[in-house]
Amino acid sequence: MCGIVGYIGKKRAVDIILKGLSHLEYRGYDSAGIALVSKNDAHIYKASGKLNNLKEIISREKEENISTTAGIGHTRWATHGLPTEVNAHPHTCNCGSLIIVHNGIIENYKDLKPELEQKGCRFKSQTDTEVAAHLIAHEFDNKKDLLKAVQSAVKKLKGAYAFCVMHKSMPDKIIAARKNAPLIIGTGEGENFIASDIPAIIEYTKKAIYVSDNQVAEVKADSVKIYNETGDLISNKVENLPFEPVALSKMGYKHFMLKEIHEQPDVVRNVLVDKIQNEDKAVLLDDVKLSGEKLSKINRIQIIACGTSLHAGLVGKYVIEELTKIPVDVEASSEYIYRNTIADENTLVIGISQSGETADTITAIKQAKENKSHILIITNRKDSAMARLADSLLLINAGIEVSVAATKSYMAQLISIYALAIYLAETTGKTGNSKLKELKKELLTLPSKLEIVLNDTKNIKEIAKKYSSSKDFIFIARGINYPSALEGALKLKEISYINATGYPAGELKHGPIAMLDETMPVLAILNKGIVFDKVLSNCEEAKARQARLIGVTNFIDEKHINLFDDLVIIPEISDMVSPALNIVVLQLLAYHISEYLGKDVDQPRNLAKSVTVE
Ligand code: G6P
Repeated sequence: MCGIVGYIGKKRAVDIILKGLSHLEYRGYDSAGIALVSKNDAHIYKASGKLNNLKEIISREKEENISTTAGIGHTRWATHGLPTEVNAHPHTCNCGSLIIVHNGIIENYKDLKPELEQKGCRFKSQTDTEVAAHLIAHEFDNKKDLLKAVQSAVKKLKGAYAFCVMHKSMPDKIIAARKNAPLIIGTGEGENFIASDIPAIIEYTKKAIYVSDNQVAEVKADSVKIYNETGDLISNKVENLPFEPVALSKMGYKHFMLKEIHEQPDVVRNVLVDKIQNEDKAVLLDDVKLSGEKLSKINRIQIIACGTSLHAGLVGKYVIEELTKIPVDVEASSEYIYRNTIADENTLVIGISQSGETADTITAIKQAKENKSHILIITNRKDSAMARLADSLLLINAGIEVSVAATKSYMAQLISIYALAIYLAETTGKTGNSKLKELKKELLTLPSKLEIVLNDTKNIKEIAKKYSSSKDFIFIARGINYPSALEGALKLKEISYINATGYPAGELKHGPIAMLDETMPVLAILNKGIVFDKVLSNCEEAKARQARLIGVTNFIDEKHINLFDDLVIIPEISDMVSPALNIVVLQLLAYHISEYLGKDVDQPRNLAKSVTVE
């Protein structure tokens, strides 16, 4: 979602801020802006579209206007108002002295606006943020102290925010504030950095302070002071940042998405290394605090997540129910919230989130916490808001994922869920040892099977080319691969903008079949197992309506080969682990279709990597 970068120190702020914003581009945005501030002078530049548009405007500027050593920048993902130049941040008060960049949503902006208008504020944009600019400016007029002005203004704001605020009369400080939106302060020698995420500043510093909700920080070149909600000076820990800059390189691949798809065998190895050492050893999950006694009382499990993480959760339902016999419900976080969900202290609530910052999931987790349920968070970010809400934590160790379309993080989520399900089964004793042993063995051999698929992608590329002009796509599967059909369709939609839908194969005849004719590709996932014959019958039904049929399978006999227009054969694998192998074919298919169509694979339109607004 929106990116924030602030810099105050001794170097040219413009270079650091623009570079920082470019490292946040992957998160998705549709306009950008920067304010460069020096004594009684501020230069603001904005552009709609990509960061390059902003860079071009700045490159035409006179050097004296852009050579300041303090400034704030922003990439905006539009929520209130179109992604135009006027709506891009920074926003200012009437006279342009008070300057702000903001992530989040000020929910009560419409309530605050009339009063500010009466006081003479003129609004230029349609954004909620501009209300905050005017509000803080008024507080500043009363108090003549920027820190106090922000502290007082935030008390009047409802919603979510991460702010950077500057005033051109005092260019020696940036005030930062946070509530329900990520914000860190990177510390250096005679310089400090502010950012909404680590990649923006990792090149300059490995040390940072995490700002917590309701805290306000005064950041100068040589000091950082943090204040709590009641205005007391407090000291937050300076922490070591986890990322290496190399994670932000494409390593020779054309796109981050392709690189990340190819990283998946190692991702699986990384997840397994400290959890499943061999099939004879019990699963180890260091930060999962669920004793046998606690688990014996758990009578239901609820999984809440969004997007791709939700699909990982759906696979989790099949695996956890099979191995523990505990009923599992899976729900989109945005549907879980704002109703009386039935959860209590005997409910295990599992939140799944790559970023750990998705607003809907955070709200859902907080709701479950109020019901006293045990909260288990599965995330890629140990420093995230969700990780901090967890009673039990399962880190997926996927490494930084740059492409907006989630691939390797989905894989790491799946493998972590398998490990969790085995752990729960071993702790509750609900499944025989030999079945669990077999499953562990399968997981340990998965990386080499993934490599087989990834080492020969010619067939998938050809299929992608053949179907890239399709307007629609249907993905069908049954049982544990139904979520794979959903995820495959989501990947295709996200990066190629082709209308794609995933269905349980048995549902095809209850409506979607009306769509079928010779122009409609139907991709079917058929794995050897209990539903194989059923999916095959559904494929026959599709073929009888002249649909173009693509099969992804680990088992096909001679008599059925001709049913399919195209086939992708994957290595032998059990039904239970097959989602982790099938999905790679679907990721590659989506990737190559998008590539053939010349789309912006890593930064698809309208999407954001982590959605920090509800
Ligand atoms: C956004 C991303 C998706 C992601 C979803 C949930 O929509 O574009 O790729 O699956 O958010 O994100 P999370 O970080 O909670 O897994």
